Amino acid sequence: MNLILLGAPGSGKGTQAKFLAEHYKIKKIVVGDILREEVKNNTPLGKVVSEYMNKGVLVPDNIIIKVIQEKLNSSGFILDGFPRNLVQAKMLEEILKEKALSLDRVIYLKVNEEKAVERLSGRRVCKNCGAIYHIVNMPPQKEGICDKCGEKLMIRDDDREETVKKRWQVFRRETSSLIDHYLKDSKLLEVDANKSKEEVFSEIKKALNSYGKDKDSSGN
Ligand code: AP5
Repeated sequence: MNLILLGAPGSGKGTQAKFLAEHYKIKKIVVGDILREEVKNNTPLGKVVSEYMNKGVLVPDNIIIKVIQEKLNSSGFILDGFPRNLVQAKMLEEILKEKALSLDRVIYLKVNEEKAVERLSGRRVCKNCGAIYHIVNMPPQKEGICDKCGEKLMIRDDDREETVKKRWQVFRRETSSLIDHYLKDSKLLEVDANKSKEEVFSEIKKALNSYGKDKDSSGN
């Protein structure tokens, strides 16, 4: 199964990507995490992308495409955070064609801005292993400490209020056009992402299962 997770900042893409990867045993390609790792290691790429990320705007397409070309090698993937605009969507189509891969479904996590902002303001992440928490909805067992690796939890640099506002503007201006793009392709599955993380995951599974049945019955 080859999937894209599409949604505004705070819609829960990272949270659901983890559930999907574990449940379906597929690889998650989380563009934001890949870029943050480069920033953390102070690599040449990290130095370039951190400026864009801290402002809450998109990193230039040519940089992102190289990252995807390198990571996307075989079937059984979830793309979280890519594509983010129509240029990236077209480039993805070319990469998939070159590598003889195809896209099955695009899961659109639809969330209210107010709810998403509340989630982002309470988000804590582990800089070591990338685990995601929320101080109210998904608290760690010990305050400020990662359950998985015992490292300190951090607030993401781009979760400041004004940067979150900017990221939402960018989503509306550049990424939301992908909803129509994938609707036209009949690949889009819209899920109500305002619900709890368990309910959202259950809706995604239901939608993917019915797609699986359709796929079998049509013989594809
Ligand atoms: P990226 O890291 O992808 O950020 P984003 O798209 O803004 O999304 P977030 O990671 O903030 O939110 P999420 O939807 O994953 O939510 P999460 O599961 O963490 O990108 C960062 C930056 O990198 C971009 O601004 C850009 O600069 C650059 N970039 C990345 N991709 C790019 C590309 N393709 N092109 C160019 N530039 C690119 O959940 C959020 C919080 O809510 C957590 O605390 C979680 O615990 C909680 N939560 C999640 N689900 C629920 C739920 N159902 N109920 C209650 N709480 C929940």
